[in-house]
Amino acid sequence: MTATVLADRAAAGFRARYDAEPDGVWFAPGRVNLIGEHTDYTGGFVLPFALGTGVAVAAGRVPSGTITVCSREQGGDPVSVTLETLTAGVTTGWAAYPLGVAWALSEAGQRPGGTRIAVEADLAPGAGLSSSAALECATGLALCEMHGLQVPRQELAALASRAENDFAGAPTGIMDQSASLLCQAAHALLLDCRSGEMELVPLDPTAVGLTMLVIDTGARHAHTDGRYGERRRSCEEAARQLGVSSLRELTDRPDDVQLLADPQLRRRARHVVSENRRVLDAVALLRRGALAEVGPLLMRSHASLRDEFEVSWPEADVAVEAATAAGALGARMMGGGFGGPVLALVPEDQRRSVEAALTAAYAQHNWQQPAVFEAVPSESARRLR
Ligand code: GLA
Repeated sequence: MTATVLADRAAAGFRARYDAEPDGVWFAPGRVNLIGEHTDYTGGFVLPFALGTGVAVAAGRVPSGTITVCSREQGGDPVSVTLETLTAGVTTGWAAYPLGVAWALSEAGQRPGGTRIAVEADLAPGAGLSSSAALECATGLALCEMHGLQVPRQELAALASRAENDFAGAPTGIMDQSASLLCQAAHALLLDCRSGEMELVPLDPTAVGLTMLVIDTGARHAHTDGRYGERRRSCEEAARQLGVSSLRELTDRPDDVQLLADPQLRRRARHVVSENRRVLDAVALLRRGALAEVGPLLMRSHASLRDEFEVSWPEADVAVEAATAAGALGARMMGGGFGGPVLALVPEDQRRSVEAALTAAYAQHNWQQPAVFEAVPSESARRLR
């Protein structure tokens, strides 16, 4: 769906629900992470890019001190909360993400006024493309612009992340919100999650005869289900035992990880430390236009996520194997794990054979056919009308 169609639908949803015209429509994209998985919350490096698809919110100010949100996709009655009573725990489920942003802004002294919001998404929740971050970021931009709040984008990303952690209760890192708000078309975003430093790195696969495919493996996940948080705690524990503030500190001395007595903690830490190195190696390749050579790094990332961090799932492993056997230069699971998508780097002229191989492999397992789409590095969040 194009952003224009999405905006039309959001505006129509607003009119239907509130019997009024919205003040505007704001859009925030989902993201793909090229490489750098489970590194953001340990102060490491990530390399995401924004997708063309995402979440649109149609929004309008109201004189009352109430924030109301509704979503066509989620259905149900609109969720309405007065700004006065907006505290963590007042609501759960999908509405906690947009309401959490209003809360985080208020907590930071940037209090929005009364607002009504209608949400329209073309990212499936739980599909691993950061629909929740897109919803937060679109809401954040809308609230700031409508109520004259001056919040720089990197700060807004931090507030949206805070909403997700402290209001919606998902212990995720800063990558998804940063990607949604800070990326640019034809670029990936190298983000140093310790310092906040960023660099836009050129990423234009078609220019070199390649394409990046996102394969929806059909398995769904939730970051609030405990397993993501458990991995995060392991990383913190490993850092504590090694006497460093975060595993990022070990990027240049990876062998220190061997000092961990517990084999499971050692595996977890080995993934994070090696993954940070892979991000830097991938950036060096992209800077010299050698995207094809990133393929082997994707393979090593997947193996590490599967064997050391243990967050892969059968549909992902099969997709990675089938895609690479059919000509992909590399492929890996993406996002937090236990469900979601696989990213494959594929020469344009191998795309058909890769798709056919995926179809065959999934049929063999009696799994539902995986949806496949091309991921094009796109613009970050913006006002659509
Ligand atoms: C999820 C989280 C991110 C990040 C990834 C794993 O997408 O939202 O913050 O931790 O998992 O890299």
